[in-house]
Amino acid sequence: MRERMEPASVDLVYLDPPFNSKRDYNAIYKDETGRPLPDQVEAYTDTWMPDADRMRTIRNLPILLREHNINGHGADLLAGFLRALAHTQPDMAAYLAYMTERLIWIKRLMKPTAAIYYHCAPTASHYLKVVMDVLFGANNFLNEIIWSYRRWPAKSKSFQRMHDVILRYAVDAKSITWNQLFEPLAESTLKADGGKKILNVLDESGRRRRGKKTGEDSPGAPMRDVWNIGIIAPTAKERLGYPTQKPVKLLDPIVRASSNPGDLVFDPFCGCATTIEAAENLGRRWIGIDITIHAVKRVARRRLLDRLHLVQGQDYVIEGVPQNWEGAYELWRQDPYQFQKWCVEQVEGFVNVKKSADEGIDGRVYFDMPGEKILQSMALEVKGGENVSINHVRALNAVLKYENVQMAGLITLNAPGSQQAKNFQQTMALAGYVKIGGREFPRLQFLTVDEILGGKSFNMPKPAGRTESDYDSDLFSHGNA
Ligand SMILES: C[S@@+](CC[C@H](N)C(=O)[O-])C[C@H]1O[C@@H](n2cnc3c(N)ncnc32)[C@H](O)[C@@H]1O
Repeated sequence: MRERMEPASVDLVYLDPPFNSKRDYNAIYKDETGRPLPDQVEAYTDTWMPDADRMRTIRNLPILLREHNINGHGADLLAGFLRALAHTQPDMAAYLAYMTERLIWIKRLMKPTAAIYYHCAPTASHYLKVVMDVLFGANNFLNEIIWSYRRWPAKSKSFQRMHDVILRYAVDAKSITWNQLFEPLAESTLKADGGKKILNVLDESGRRRRGKKTGEDSPGAPMRDVWNIGIIAPTAKERLGYPTQKPVKLLDPIVRASSNPGDLVFDPFCGCATTIEAAENLGRRWIGIDITIHAVKRVARRRLLDRLHLVQGQDYVIEGVPQNWEGAYELWRQDPYQFQKWCVEQVEGFVNVKKSADEGIDGRVYFDMPGEKILQSMALEVKGGENVSINHVRALNAVLKYENVQMAGLITLNAPGSQQAKNFQQTMALAGYVKIGGREFPRLQFLTVDEILGGKSFNMPKPAGRTESDYDSDLFSHGNA
């Protein structure tokens, strides 16, 4: 947002960030044989700790606000509010600090005519209103939309919680883009002026109703701020298995009401690209951002291809996913954990979600082994910016002993020197081979990021689970269609 996007370029923002639900969402994927993988793929984490970074953001907030021309009592209110909240509800303060910083940058990208829709939960919406009131101005608050849905009831001593909140703000309420929408379909009877009941029906567009008696056009009831829209059904074609995926039906009225064809719609937490689908369907341009490479590279990309027939590189581009060593280095520098995930996914592995301090494994690649009931695996370790040493190889050797794995692989960002590489090979050779399906595979293996980018992978049986090649074959068939 800071470096690649133009200020005042966006017509509409919808964001649905992780809302401090204190849960980790795991997308569960099945391997091609239909057997669930022993571990789950972590999509993203939604737990907030008031770590040193967040506390620094809270402390430095007055400076950040001043830099963005948010001054006076509003700035004092927000800075003081977050400082105090850090004592009473540290995790909420951490979440709000994180979002405040991002909202400031989002606002900078918005045109004066733009609206922002912030999708959140009732547990955070009241705090977020304070933040948004300060950043956008209380007079630019436009709606609190209630998205009401039904789902399986939970056992609790509360009324069933079955709504989300969407806060709608303007950069400038007076010049905001607005297309009036009307309550969706359904024939209904309305009281006509004279108190007589007349039947109102919809025209072909489903938006206008005609009084039968008078024959005059009646636009119907302007859409309310309470929306009854179902969540995505378990068997729906739309369902992609991405945790917290929202229905396109929810995004459709947002895009219709607050943008026009050709406008730029922006979703900075786009997940599996629901906003993008709604925007594309309505002829808008779009930009989506997500921190989870898995969401962008696999789920969203697949959705764009399958549902919208959009081909990466031809119809749109993906940026920020490393294409070369420098890109990989940059990812490691910005976010070592995402770098680790990226490495693991490059070799068709799954990151280890149960990682504990004393367990060195970063991920596993699963495969079928004849005669074994459950999927077998290769353990993976990833080393980022630090120099690799023979100790890393020795540690990997230990993994073979205490982990229930057939093989272990090391991935390093930095390549070892040539003498060091020889030492690695010698030590690894001592670990021997494993025989699978009549073939022998080295038990310890080693790849550099450069080698991975060059298309090299571990010498092992075909990995189980979804692979990039699935997508490439899809790409091919769509290209022919
Ligand atoms: C609730 S989900 C969004 C779901 C989305 N509306 C959909 O329908 O698929 C929140 C998303 O925010 C992403 N995320 C978390 N922190 C982020 C950050 N700092 N920048 C960008 N995306 C982030 C997560 O990876 C996750 O995909």
